[in-house]
Amino acid sequence: MSDRLGTVLGPLELPNPVMTASGCGGTGRELAQFFDLTRLGAFVTTSVMARPRAGRPTPRVTETPSGLLTAMGLPGPGIETFLENDLPWLSEHDVRTIVSVAGNSVEEYGELARRLRHVPGVAAIEVNIACPNVEDRGRVFAWHPTAAASVVRAVRDHARPGTPIFAKLAPDVTDIVTIALACVDAGADGLTLINTMEGMAIDPKTLRPALSGVSGGLSGPAVRPVAVRCVYQVHAALPSTPIIGVGGVATGLDALEFILAGASAVAVGTAVFHDPTAGPRVLRELDEALAARRIGRLADAVGLAHKPAGYVPPQVRAEEPAEERL
Ligand SMILES: Cc1cc2nc3c(=O)[nH]c(=O)nc-3n(C[C@H](O)[C@H](O)[C@H](O)COP(=O)(O)O)c2cc1C
Repeated sequence: MSDRLGTVLGPLELPNPVMTASGCGGTGRELAQFFDLTRLGAFVTTSVMARPRAGRPTPRVTETPSGLLTAMGLPGPGIETFLENDLPWLSEHDVRTIVSVAGNSVEEYGELARRLRHVPGVAAIEVNIACPNVEDRGRVFAWHPTAAASVVRAVRDHARPGTPIFAKLAPDVTDIVTIALACVDAGADGLTLINTMEGMAIDPKTLRPALSGVSGGLSGPAVRPVAVRCVYQVHAALPSTPIIGVGGVATGLDALEFILAGASAVAVGTAVFHDPTAGPRVLRELDEALAARRIGRLADAVGLAHKPAGYVPPQVRAEEPAEERL
């Protein structure tokens, strides 16, 4: 793989910009049957919570014409087991690991950051704020700038100083830039855009909602234009804040679209379920796409869609006549 792919996300430097999306790479062991996880820029864990959770009853997943609708309810073994089994396995295998945390109260997020404070192998923390706040009638933290900021602040206050923190935002808000600003002001080093969008399907056979949770999170190709729009808007407002773009990335060109919108990395989620090797494949295709466009460094493509037409990044090979550039 070429060295054009190195990326810098604030305090987090990675050899390449392709990650797994939280919840889509299992514990890492499942994907490791298909490829060496050190080939990823980073592995993002499924969101870990303070205590074990069974998640929602089935059915939890239904297919839509161009994506998945899921209402998992964040099932997982909890932080204790995660620290005993999963994180050490990832560490032993030298996998750059971004630990995703989720909670139902500000205190729970703080507790998780505290538990991660003294353990090795945490390259960064991703704060999944798309969770209901039990202290606010179940209103999702990600929907309100003050609530989102209080979660990020709690993680910042309790995490090991210097640990890179990324806040993962939900797209179904009136103004994502306001939420992004609140998270950055509260101490987030970067943002992950986006989590799933709330959607719903009704089963024509049972005449009832297809999911036990009634509504669920829409992911896959259907959400990509929404995710690209969020990345574009947030990069325009906060050009120096690093962004991890997520939502429907299935090919190198999809990844390039996010990079051009302003992301410095991408995460591959739903695509992994039908192609477990999607991560390394997207990386190879992205490298080829950059080379085909004579873009010498990934960093030169970040946010390029914001530049006026005709702008040529400095690393584009000088000997190529402009009209021959793709
Ligand atoms: C089955 C499934 C489980 C997920 N679990 C999590 C999770 O634990 N934490 C989280 O922040 N996002 C979770 N997500 C959201 C993804 O990380 C991602 O933000 C979203 O699916 C959009 O990307 P995609 O279209 O590539 O899947 C989950 C998505 C799916 C489909």
